[in-house]
Amino acid sequence: MLSLQIIVYILSFLHASDRKEASLVCRSWYNASQDQRYQVTYPEPKPPCTLWGVGVFIPYISPFIDLQREVTFSFPASASALELVKGLSRKSHCSLRISQLDGFSISRSLLLEVGACLGSKVESLALPGSSITEASLLNLLPCLTSLRRLDLRGLDSLFMSGAFLSREEHRQQVRSALCGLEELDLSNLRYLSDLTFTRLTGCTPRLRRLSLAGCHIAFEFDPYRGCPVGMVEDSSALLSLRNLKRLLTQQKSTLVALDLSRTSITPESLRAVAQVEDLKLEELYLQGCKELTDYSVEILVRHQPGLLKLDISECMGLTSRSVEAVAHGLKSLTHLSLSHDWRITEKGLRDLLALPGLKGLDLSQCLNISGAEMVSGLKRPGATRAQLETLNFRGCTYIKDLAVFSLAQLLGSCLRELDLTSCVNVTDLSVCAIATYLQELVVLRLGWCKEVTDWGLLGMLQKAECELHNETGENGPMFTRTFGNMGFFKPPRMPFEEKPKLLTQIDLQQFKEQAGDSLLALRRLQELDLSACIKLTDSSITQVVKYPDLQRLSLSMLPDITDAALVSVGWHCRSLTSLTLSHCPGITDRGVAQAAPHLQRLQHLYLSCCGNITDRSLHLLMQHCKRLKTVDISRCKNVSMRTVELLHSNLPFLENVHHKLIGAELFND
Ligand SMILES: *[C@@H]1O[C@H](CO)[C@@H](O)[C@H](O)[C@H]1NC(C)=O
Ligand SMILES: *[C@@H]1O[C@H](CO)[C@@H](O)[C@H](O)[C@H]1NC(C)=O
Ligand SMILES: *[C@@H]1O[C@H](CO)[C@@H](O)[C@H](O)[C@H]1NC(C)=O
Ligand SMILES: *[C@@H]1O[C@H](CO)[C@@H](O)[C@H](O)[C@H]1NC(C)=O
Ligand SMILES: *[C@@H]1O[C@H](CO)[C@@H](O)[C@H](O)[C@H]1NC(C)=O
Ligand SMILES: *[C@@H]1O[C@H](CO)[C@@H](O)[C@H](O)[C@H]1NC(C)=O
Repeated sequence: MLSLQIIVYILSFLHASDRKEASLVCRSWYNASQDQRYQVTYPEPKPPCTLWGVGVFIPYISPFIDLQREVTFSFPASASALELVKGLSRKSHCSLRISQLDGFSISRSLLLEVGACLGSKVESLALPGSSITEASLLNLLPCLTSLRRLDLRGLDSLFMSGAFLSREEHRQQVRSALCGLEELDLSNLRYLSDLTFTRLTGCTPRLRRLSLAGCHIAFEFDPYRGCPVGMVEDSSALLSLRNLKRLLTQQKSTLVALDLSRTSITPESLRAVAQVEDLKLEELYLQGCKELTDYSVEILVRHQPGLLKLDISECMGLTSRSVEAVAHGLKSLTHLSLSHDWRITEKGLRDLLALPGLKGLDLSQCLNISGAEMVSGLKRPGATRAQLETLNFRGCTYIKDLAVFSLAQLLGSCLRELDLTSCVNVTDLSVCAIATYLQELVVLRLGWCKEVTDWGLLGMLQKAECELHNETGENGPMFTRTFGNMGFFKPPRMPFEEKPKLLTQIDLQQFKEQAGDSLLALRRLQELDLSACIKLTDSSITQVVKYPDLQRLSLSMLPDITDAALVSVGWHCRSLTSLTLSHCPGITDRGVAQAAPHLQRLQHLYLSCCGNITDRSLHLLMQHCKRLKTVDISRCKNVSMRTVELLHSNLPFLENVHHKLIGAELFND
């Protein structure tokens, strides 16, 4: 047996995902994987920018996994979950996400078990998609003395009667357990009222984060009483602004994050919230608050200048005035989402990009953005500038190569995540710039960039031309005018006219010899989306998509790729957990046969509309990809219902099989 030291040393060479795998082998390997001595840190994929940012997924539950404190154990309520809960009791702390709880005895005993075995160890509890009674929750909550985060989102069953926590003795029990609770998620509750809200938050006196997203909050007018809210006492039917303000006032010394997304908050109410005395918000989420105006953003910025994260996406009324207000008023801002605010133009973006702390910017679906002012903001000599780590331009059709090229150059190694989905005017030149300047990228999305070709992925543009561009524009964005004349992107000399995608062996040889920056340079990629880049073929996929850390890959809607691409991906990208190949008619059972043995970590596989996939592929998946949770084989006409049923009995973690319009159902028609 190897000594612990040696195992620790060997494991130190592995990437994060491999270490995680290795930790499952046995106890001593688990021990070794925990050793920090030689540990190299790899960038972890960032969770999406949501208030609760949790959701790390573990393929199967093992009491040994403890690599990150943030790991959440996620499982549906079932008899086997009881065993699992017992197993978890060996851990010193844990986070639970238990779905599909109901009023029946299994759910009740599961909650009792959680309370008994894990009581003081649970730091975070979420109960999505459940309908539990007050009684079973009240059996559990008083045991959870270390709870930091409680997610009751959408649990209407708890609030419908309005009697939740109506007895003082229950409130006392819950209060003594939850007095350290920091995060409370009450989003999407239809029946939250002043009374239940006050009773619950009375038990949680030191909240740092509160979500009321999607709740029916009466901001101005109480439709039940026909009078303005706040004139009368607490309502048993509605949560009112008055009550929310009361909570903010009571807990202002701890509360820093508030989510009021998808509520009907009015400009006047936002002002009232922002002006709560001594409230110092760091994060505010107002996604889809359609009534908000530029003026209300200006007021907000004035009263909450310490905001770090602001989400004002899908606030259709906002214009560039809001952007200017944010740029001038929120000097510490780190994250801003303006997604779907289609009235926003370039105006104000120059100043926004001068905010030195800005790390994340979401401009997806801001249709009028071209990027020019952003480039200008980043180029301003002597000024501070944003070090963006994530940038989202999804659906910004005015974004062109020039902007991508300049931004890539200016943002360089700080950028981790770039989304250019549906930037239809982006071409190979942008891909070349990305490969040259953005080599630290972890996430790259180029879906629907239909002009992108194999040449771009292979980095086979003429280098001289890329460099020419680099030298222009000493004093700002002056290069735009000469851009068109520079012969910037000359198609390579090739039999190009009819099928620009056909590369010859000689070309590939040349590619391998010239040390150009192909997309291969992005060694850290964990997510790559090339779906519907319809000009791509096996030529580039087999040469470039070779990323040891890649976890999520989409190659859907690539009509020209064949099994060769799949086989290559399987061989080179063994960390894949999600693979999308929908609408790829060239993928067949033969490709699956060669790739599946290497894709043992696969959890999600999408093969819809792959007409050449048959039952044989499903048998191969059962044999090799034991961790599959999602399989989509809709419209695969040669797949039979019988085999789908086999899939269910052979894959222990399978949750969803999408099988619309497969063989058997066609016969029924
Ligand atoms: C694992 O580590 C713990 C504490 O470091 C030690 O007590 C235990 O014996 C180790 N187990 C094995 C199998 O090495
Ligand atoms: C922004 O884009 C929309 C939709 O494309 C267009 O109707 C509108 O005129 C544009 N606004 C400005 C200020 O360019
Ligand atoms: C962007 O591409 C679309 C579709 O390919 C085209 O119609 C449009 O003219 C282009 N826009 C610009 C500004 O080049
Ligand atoms: C771009 O220009 C700068 C300064 O002019 C130079 O240092 C840098 O190496 C150039 N980058 C490339 C990729 O040519
Ligand atoms: C099967 O593959 C062939 C060759 O790749 C392709 O031409 C054909 O359209 C595919 N069949 C279906 C039903 O997708
Ligand atoms: C699918 O089934 C049809 C009809 O049974 C058959 O003609 C066809 O060859 C099958 N396709 C494949 C890829 O097996």
